[in-house]
Amino acid sequence: MKGLSSGDSALQKVRAAKEALTHVESNMLVGLGSGSTAHYAIEALGDLLERGELTDIAGVPTSEASGALARKRGIPLIDLPAGGVDVAIDGIDEITPELDAIKGLGGALTREKMVAASASMLILIGDASKAVDRLGMKAPIPVEILPFGWRRTQTDLEALGCRPRLRQVAEQTFLTDNGNYILDCFVSPPIDAVQLACALALQPGVVEHGLFLGMAQLAYIATAETVRTYRKGERR
Ligand code: 5RP
Repeated sequence: MKGLSSGDSALQKVRAAKEALTHVESNMLVGLGSGSTAHYAIEALGDLLERGELTDIAGVPTSEASGALARKRGIPLIDLPAGGVDVAIDGIDEITPELDAIKGLGGALTREKMVAASASMLILIGDASKAVDRLGMKAPIPVEILPFGWRRTQTDLEALGCRPRLRQVAEQTFLTDNGNYILDCFVSPPIDAVQLACALALQPGVVEHGLFLGMAQLAYIATAETVRTYRKGERR
């Protein structure tokens, strides 16, 4: 990519995105993730369609922004069907060698999780900064909540051991594409991610949380030198 060096995180994201696209074949329904890395994948998918290297592709976007980009790139879109998608490609905020991830700093976690859970194959992509040994080392866990009674939900999440902070952007409360709020839950690793995920899922007022545990089959993490492949169940 012009003007970018191999140590540049944008170039790493592009390389990871292109690697993921090698799993997309003609006639597939593709889950289109959200965030900058997923946007590189959408751009690259648009290029493949434009060049006729892939045909009869449709996409399921996980955010309004990804839908707008896909439309601009000529990718036909449909709503998530009952049968799910063939492959979903999405970015991450953190990923462990075991393929457990935190997602949602872009605020699209609920639709991302629905599409990811429906996918025959989920591929996560990111640059080297996203690789961690333990979840919660760099990123908070975003939790989408109903605006109704949000202060009570915040108190409940504190009781689970998190430090939840209502997401603000430009001094305004951030609203998801679903019209909800986000509590960014800071934690002190090591955490029992499975236990926390279960507790969050059971919490009234919580729509969805950004812990994506054991969902992905594959991840491509680009460093300055190479693109690392993480496979589910493979010991590292
Ligand atoms: C959006 C997400 C994104 O996938 C995640 O935040 C990664 O974003 P980026 O690729 O821009 O670093 O979960 O809800």
